[in-house]
Amino acid sequence: MERTLSIIKPDGVSRGLIGDVIKRFEGAGFRIAAMKMIYLSKKEAEGFYAVHRERPFFQSLTDFMSSGPILIMVLEGEDVIQHNRELMGATNYKEAKPGTIRADFATDIEKNIVHGSDAPETAATEIAYFFNSLEIVGSIEQNP
Ligand code: CMP
Repeated sequence: MERTLSIIKPDGVSRGLIGDVIKRFEGAGFRIAAMKMIYLSKKEAEGFYAVHRERPFFQSLTDFMSSGPILIMVLEGEDVIQHNRELMGATNYKEAKPGTIRADFATDIEKNIVHGSDAPETAATEIAYFFNSLEIVGSIEQNP
């Protein structure tokens, strides 16, 4: 069983797309193991996206990610990291397959509605950036 971090970005929250996105996650069989709404400071957004700090879009991306509330979730399931990436579609919505979240809702390469971890190591780091172990809820089978 694998876990991944999912973010509904400020554009997804402000456009009223939380329900649509979560419906796709639940429809895909993902279990939501943790969820909270937060409003990142610029510094917190910079910390989260530190791997991109040399990229030309870093300032704009971190301004955007601290421009409004975001919904963060820990999703759990078999092969959930890759499966979530397939549901989201390509980073650039113009290259995303029809029926994916980004193809259906994104308006911009930056304002692309959702973020999802890209590998097990990044998933672990990203989950730990936002959630402590008590905030990640086990399923019935996992709860002693
Ligand atoms: P995300 O999956 O959150 O990971 C990094 C983010 O940077 C990405 O989604 C986009 O929002 C943004 N991003 C990636 N590439 C570009 C780019 N070429 N121009 C602007 N923003 C980008």
